Amino acid sequence: MKTVLIYGATSAIAQATAVNFALDKWKLLLVAKNENKLNDLANDLKTRYSADVSTFYFDAIDDATYQKSFDEALANAGAIDAVLIAHGTLPDQEKIASNLDAINREIVANGVSVVNLATIAANYFEPLGKGMIAVISSVAGDRGRQSNYIYGAAKGFVSTYFQGLRNRMFHKGVSVLTIKPGFVDTPMTSHVPKNFLFASYPAVGKKIFEAMKAGKSGVIYVPGFWRLIMCIVKSVPESLFMKLKM
Ligand SMILES: NC(=O)c1ccc[n+]([C@@H]2O[C@H](COP(=O)([O-])OP(=O)(O)OC[C@H]3O[C@@H](n4cnc5c(N)ncnc54)[C@H](OP(=O)(O)O)[C@@H]3O)[C@@H](O)[C@H]2O)c1
Repeated sequence: MKTVLIYGATSAIAQATAVNFALDKWKLLLVAKNENKLNDLANDLKTRYSADVSTFYFDAIDDATYQKSFDEALANAGAIDAVLIAHGTLPDQEKIASNLDAINREIVANGVSVVNLATIAANYFEPLGKGMIAVISSVAGDRGRQSNYIYGAAKGFVSTYFQGLRNRMFHKGVSVLTIKPGFVDTPMTSHVPKNFLFASYPAVGKKIFEAMKAGKSGVIYVPGFWRLIMCIVKSVPESLFMKLKM
């Protein structure tokens, strides 16, 4: 039985991904901050899919919980085949734009914690010469915009870190996958008016599972049409882009 470790397991996208892993008979090591939600999720996966699930606590803004949760999960399972880092927060850009503490908190929650966890996973997989490290970044990290550049900056940091890690791990037999969803209809975007660009979290979760199961290394946009959209967005000259209201 293969084992997947999922950080931010209670996120809607991670839950949908976990269901696919459960259906494929992987052992699930689920890590999250909200222990009540986590227990409900574990019970649901056990009841509906007879899944083999263990749960662990971490808080993305408490660095003492990063290595501890990884070590606890590894001790529980004996071995880990794949890691997915899924947690994140989407702040109100206008509210936090001038607040140093709030900015730093968001950068740690969406960026620094993710890079720390990926480093811990890389330290584990590198000597084994195998494994998979996947992260949910975002199209928001591809270009800074006035409406969400703090979240976007943290995601851009993650995407660049994963690009370098992938280059390093390519030579060690470890797969490194960056997942860039566009808009997904989840609690994170509950306040955003929906349009045709929104994907459902079960569809996104299925794509993530398929890419991870295939051991894919690289960058995937989910849905795939976001690759073209972001290619166009990135090609707009800065002299023009800075004048737009986005
Ligand atoms: N929805 C979108 O349109 C979209 C687009 C691109 C990328 N993404 C990314 O997809 C990932 C999953 O998001 P989602 O859309 O599924 O949203 P979601 O359902 O709101 O999930 C966010 C998750 O992050 C967790 N989290 C927040 N702060 C945390 C902390 N300090 N420590 C540990 N966990 C924390 C939350 O846990 P609690 O419930 O315990 O707070 C929750 O499980 C995120 O990385 C997000 O940035 C989403």
